[in-house]
Amino acid sequence: MDAIEIQGGTPLVGEVTVSGSKNATLPMLCAALLAKGQSRFFDVPALADLRTMGRLLAHMGASIDPLSAPPGLGTTLSIDASTIGNPEAPYELVKTMRAAVLVLGPLVARLGHARVSLPGGCAIGARPIDQHLKGLTALGAKIELAHGYVEARADRLVGTHFNFDLPTVTGTENLMMAASLAEGQTVLENCAREPEIEALATMLNAMGARVHGAGSSTITIDGVSSLRPVDSMVVPDRIEAGTLMAAAVITGGDVLVRRAPAPHLEALTSKLREAGAKVTVEADGVRVVGPARPNPIDVITAPHPGYPTDLQAQLMACLCVSTGASRVVETVFENRFMHVQELRRLGADIAVEGNTALVRGQPELQGAPVMATDLRASASLVLAGLRASGTTTVSRVYHLDRGYDGLEKKLAALGARIVRVREA
Ligand code: EPU
Repeated sequence: MDAIEIQGGTPLVGEVTVSGSKNATLPMLCAALLAKGQSRFFDVPALADLRTMGRLLAHMGASIDPLSAPPGLGTTLSIDASTIGNPEAPYELVKTMRAAVLVLGPLVARLGHARVSLPGGCAIGARPIDQHLKGLTALGAKIELAHGYVEARADRLVGTHFNFDLPTVTGTENLMMAASLAEGQTVLENCAREPEIEALATMLNAMGARVHGAGSSTITIDGVSSLRPVDSMVVPDRIEAGTLMAAAVITGGDVLVRRAPAPHLEALTSKLREAGAKVTVEADGVRVVGPARPNPIDVITAPHPGYPTDLQAQLMACLCVSTGASRVVETVFENRFMHVQELRRLGADIAVEGNTALVRGQPELQGAPVMATDLRASASLVLAGLRASGTTTVSRVYHLDRGYDGLEKKLAALGARIVRVREA
């Protein structure tokens, strides 16, 4: 197993380019299931989660050009879903990647049948899929749960009016894909408004779908009888961009994050400014100049356009070296403070009560061996290691590899003393 070894204390300086977005690519690859013929994707990041999705689509019978680019280089991927012999997402693949549930909507819509393993719990919370299932039922699918699997069937889905009980990103994406091939109009209310949903709608509309309002809380979809394959460019990853911006802050560095999608990073930008960073939107990205020590700030995670839960752990790492006491409230997932125990090993002073963490800033952190528990927790430990004196070793790096394309190489190019090592 790999680990990341960091000698902390070097301010990051220079320019770095953001890769394509994991959470935009995942639903887009599933949308390829809606059409016969070859869909092509450009600037796909080299990530474990996308390889898993590729394996899943291949398991169903789609032909996939393997992801073969070296880390750090976006690659081109093609998917031909003309023949799907086996519309099933098995437990072995779903348990490693919850987003596999995104095949459910496209499979029922195109083939009239899907069998998808229930995802079960994951490190950051229970994460049920009841909203996906309620929405598909409203579209006329018959849903059965048996032996840990969801079976969904429908001759043809029929347009409906559906109100999500709470905004869910993949739930909104699943229903948007399903409704694109339904008969008649579907109106989805209380939708998630994340930019990745807009990116998926752009792809669906290029395929011939009629989706309006993606990015707002009401989405209207006029169903069509078939969709065609298209070429799509993946949008830059706002969470990777935000992680690199936080790396500039925690090290007191000066970094231009090229391709950072500034309009989608406003919640982070305003928090970093409050913390004393200088954040400037430039023609080709966002420049962040970090303070010697951040100001203490309060932050509450919320669905987009609120502060993203996927950047909570990274901001918390920065606040560990702030000049006072900060409050971090996590409202999206019930168990997303797994990084706290490990940050404490680096000398952080964090008290957790329920969904609130009180972070008392320390002048310095000290390097130590730490263990990653989920993707964004791993990123926060890497950031803390960049600031800590001495050596920090972050093990279980496979969590990081699920969602960051060559993060240690990008940080090393900015001057960080960071290497990937093989653990015994
Ligand atoms: N929820 C339900 N019922 C449902 C669906 C969701 O109760 O049917 C709850 C969840 O348990 C959670 C909240 O609603 O408390 C929001 O979950 P959501 O469904 O929006 O999350 P998701 O779609 O499973 C996506 C991202 C996550 C990101 C969240 C929130 C993808 C593939 N994943 O997950 O990304 O944290 O939205 O923004 O898009 C990550 O990249 O590290 C990651 C976890």
